[in-house]
Amino acid sequence: MKHNFASIGKNCMISDKAVFYHPERIHIGDNVRIDDFCILSAGIGGIEIGSFIHIACYAYMVGAAKITLKDYSSFSGRCAIYSSTDDFSGAHLINPMVPSEYLGVRSAPVTLEKHAVVGTGATLMIGVTVGEGAAVGAMSFVKKSIPAFEIWAGQPAVKVADRKRGLLDLEKAHQLSLRRENDLSPHDRFVEAIREYP
Ligand SMILES: CC(C)(COP(=O)(O)OP(=O)(O)OC[C@H]1O[C@@H](n2cnc3c(N)ncnc32)[C@H](O)[C@@H]1OP(=O)(O)O)[C@@H](O)C(=O)NCCC(=O)NCCS
Repeated sequence: MKHNFASIGKNCMISDKAVFYHPERIHIGDNVRIDDFCILSAGIGGIEIGSFIHIACYAYMVGAAKITLKDYSSFSGRCAIYSSTDDFSGAHLINPMVPSEYLGVRSAPVTLEKHAVVGTGATLMIGVTVGEGAAVGAMSFVKKSIPAFEIWAGQPAVKVADRKRGLLDLEKAHQLSLRRENDLSPHDRFVEAIREYP
């Protein structure tokens, strides 16, 4: 693995065309896929990615504060997370090429809770938590945290619907099947494997 992550679990597919700044601040769990042309720039707070997570092509994550993606969350193509932002009010100068004493950068952690999903092209701003099982519509601009199992969309995003909870039963079934697999003896695993063949 060419990237020097703080930690990385099993069965991960990390594109060689993805770019990681400060990989030593990035933790990755098991069964994670990060596609081509993603850019993950970890600030001092680091980036923590759980397990069973897909980060699709052209996703962008940047900022000083911690960015967290919990298990079973998904981040669609061309989405962005900013855990830091310049002050757009006019009270400060803007951009990292200007000395920091002239800037009004604010930072706050951004979190995708378990089963949160972010639709293509959406942007999450500083301090936002997308609650457990919540969904963000395509092209949305999210400035406020989203409660669990709600669907929000628009610019700025507002609630458009409730989200179903059936995925929680599927998670239980999935975890049970993983435990069953782990409990199998090498012989049972062999028997399971050859059962696939006619
Ligand atoms: C948000 C979303 C999940 C809602 O789907 P839905 O439950 O079928 O909802 P509807 O299409 O009935 O829309 C409900 C309302 O939200 C609005 N809305 C839906 N998606 C929206 C979006 N992305 N931005 C702004 N408004 C949106 C609709 O206009 C509608 O408003 P109205 O009630 O005033 O007419 C879906 O529109 C979406 O954006 N999905 C993203 C999928 C995606 O990105 N896939 C690629 C990666 S897997």
